[in-house]
Amino acid sequence: MSIQHCAFTFKKYVFIGYAKLMKPVFNYLSFPTPKVIANHHAVLDMMEQIQERGVKRPIIITDSVFSTLPAFQFLTEALDDASINYAVFDGVEPDPDFALIEKGIEACKQHRFDAVIAIGGGSSIDAAKVINTCAWNNYEPRKTVGMFKIKNHGAYFVAIPTTAGTGSETTVVSVVTDEIDHQKKQVISMKIVPDLAVLDPRLMVGLPPAITAATGMDALTHAMESYLSLYSTPQLDEMNLNTIRDILTYLPQCFGDEATSLECRLKMAQASHNAGVTFTQTSVGWVHGIAHQLGALYNMPHGLANALVLPYVLKFYIPSATKRLAEMAEALNITDGSELEKANKLVGKVIELCESLNIRPKPNMIKLSDLSIMSKNIINEVYVSPYPVPRYFNSQIELEDFIYTIFNK
Ligand SMILES: [Fe+2]
Repeated sequence: MSIQHCAFTFKKYVFIGYAKLMKPVFNYLSFPTPKVIANHHAVLDMMEQIQERGVKRPIIITDSVFSTLPAFQFLTEALDDASINYAVFDGVEPDPDFALIEKGIEACKQHRFDAVIAIGGGSSIDAAKVINTCAWNNYEPRKTVGMFKIKNHGAYFVAIPTTAGTGSETTVVSVVTDEIDHQKKQVISMKIVPDLAVLDPRLMVGLPPAITAATGMDALTHAMESYLSLYSTPQLDEMNLNTIRDILTYLPQCFGDEATSLECRLKMAQASHNAGVTFTQTSVGWVHGIAHQLGALYNMPHGLANALVLPYVLKFYIPSATKRLAEMAEALNITDGSELEKANKLVGKVIELCESLNIRPKPNMIKLSDLSIMSKNIINEVYVSPYPVPRYFNSQIELEDFIYTIFNK
């Protein structure tokens, strides 16, 4: 055994021990959740809440594409009707960086805002979490990176997701890209969770099918990684199994003939939200660790990257988490066979779902020369977070081979 291998093994066991020690801490913590309005006219119902809070000068944070869509007018018309003096910052781009956060802070201050309404996908809501707390408390954005660095709430904060995937409207995490080292940095704080989550399916019916598919697979990954997390609890287990069942039922409907059905869009919005509630308490796992690197190095959309990696990671977990995988299979009515057979059938079910959503890896999606740095960054993220996963890789080389098999076979 080489010195390098011994060092890796030592580090691995230190972090496994650390992850186990953190379980009671995570289970003890009380994670805030937003008040939720979920129905076919949720944006209108939101106005009642805003007025009750005495909001007078909200700023809407979104991206420049969404602000031109008719769905955006659901919000602006409701604010106009109530004669509320709002401003719009529509400068959010995919994978927001610190320069963008600074611009958002400036826009909030110029408007003398008293509330934030984030509307859009995960990028808009993630950006708004940091913009709001920094603008309200005069924080330096880069100093908020890490665990629990943000000590105070921002202004009253409403989040309106327009995709069913990230669950960002309820999580304690915001991911910001550092334009200096091109790495994704996590801002984690109980204080950045929105006060109100508005789930309105009318905002989701026009989504392109590929985005519906990728974001839905992100939500499925959250629920599955949460169920497999060592930090899960019986209560979270029940939520995750229901979420997994709902996503397997409603995601294909939203992707296919019933894409305009408000009912199945609402079910997916709720499933995504519930997955956000659970994974924020249990953390995620290798799928997200790998997907974050695919996003950082190749700009691969987060949900797509998760979908491509998920079946392989589930297979990797089989020897250590056969029972947990079999339980997820049973929730999907896969009841025949041994636990091992059920676990394998679950992997098959996820592959089948990806294929039905036109999600397939293309040959040579990643550069071989990137494998080493990518694996190093993934291991750092998984170990340092720590992600309480049921199985760890034995060496960096093993992880490199694993990624190679997914994308370069
Ligand atoms: Fe995710």
